Amino acid sequence: APAYENIKIDVVGSKSNVGLIQLNRPKALNALCGPLFKELGQAVRDFDANDKIAAIVITGNEKAFAAGADIKEMQNNTYSSNVRNGFLKDWEDVSNCGKPVIAAVNGFALGGGCELAMLCDIIYAGEKAKFGQPEINIGTIPGAGGTQRLPRYVGKSKAMEIVLTGNFIDAHEAEKMGLVSRVFPVEKLLEETIKLAERIGTHSPLIVKLAKQAVNQAYETTLRSGLQYEKSAFYGTFATEDRKEGMTAFVEKRPPAFKNE
Ligand code: CAA
Repeated sequence: APAYENIKIDVVGSKSNVGLIQLNRPKALNALCGPLFKELGQAVRDFDANDKIAAIVITGNEKAFAAGADIKEMQNNTYSSNVRNGFLKDWEDVSNCGKPVIAAVNGFALGGGCELAMLCDIIYAGEKAKFGQPEINIGTIPGAGGTQRLPRYVGKSKAMEIVLTGNFIDAHEAEKMGLVSRVFPVEKLLEETIKLAERIGTHSPLIVKLAKQAVNQAYETTLRSGLQYEKSAFYGTFATEDRKEGMTAFVEKRPPAFKNE
C-alpha cells in the first residue's frame, strides 16, 4: 500500500471487506490541506477498484472529523491562482466512487469537513459531533458543495441559517433535520458504522452499485427522468446473475450466494 502522511488506511470487518480511511492531521483538527485530499482521493480510488472491498468508511478522531479546508494553506491564495490551479477540484474524487462511502463523524465537521461528510452517501454521527459552514466568519462562502448539497439535505430555511450565521448544529439537531441518518455514543460510532458497511457488504456489489447510482439520480434530474432512469436500471437487474440468484434463493428458502455477476 502507498505510504500516506495525512491519512491512515485499513481493511476492517469480520469479512475484511470494509475499507477504512482515517483522516490523520490531529494537530490541525484534520484541516483538509491539498496533500491530504490527494491522498484521500487515491485511497478512495484504490478501494473502489479493489474487488474485495464492499464499502468505504471515512472517519476522523474524537475531537474532529475535519475542521474545514486548511485556512493557513489557502490564506494567500488569489482569485487567479484558484482558477489556474482548480482549487478544491480534487474533492469530487470522493463523489465519483461507485461503492458506498459512509462518513463516521465525531467532533467537528465544519466548512469543508461538513462538505466532505455530505459528499459521502450516508452520515453517521457520534453524539458530540458538531456540524457547520462557518466560512462566513472568515470572509468567504462554502466552496466544496455546502451551498448546494446542504439545502438538498435540510431544505432552504435551515441551510440559509447555517450558511449565513456560521453557527454550529449538534448531532441530534443534524439528525432531526436529515443531515445525519443516525447518532451513536462517541465510542460506539466507528463500530456501528463498520456494521452498516458490513451489512451493505452482504448484498451483491453489482446491485449495490446500481442502487447507489439510482438514488443519486434523485439529486441530478427531474422526477420524470429520474423515474425513467430507475425503471431502466431496475429492468437491467434482470440481466444479471445476482438478480436471478437472489430471487431463486428466496423461493428455495436459502441464503443467496451473490457473485458480482
Ligand atoms: N485550517 C487550518 N488549521 C486549522 C483549522 C483549519 N480549518 N481548524 C483548526 N486548525 C488548527 C488551529 O489553527 C490550531 O492550530 P495551532 O495549534 O497551530 O494554532 C489547531 O488546529 C487547533 O485549533 P484551535 O486551537 O482553534 O482549537 P479549538 O478547540 O479552540 O477550536 C474550532 C476548534 C472551533 C474548530 C476552531 O479551530 C475553528 O474555528 N476552526 C476553523 C473552522 C472553519 O472556519 N472552517 C472553515 C474553513 S473554510 C472552508 O472549509 C472552505 C470550504 O468550503 C472548502
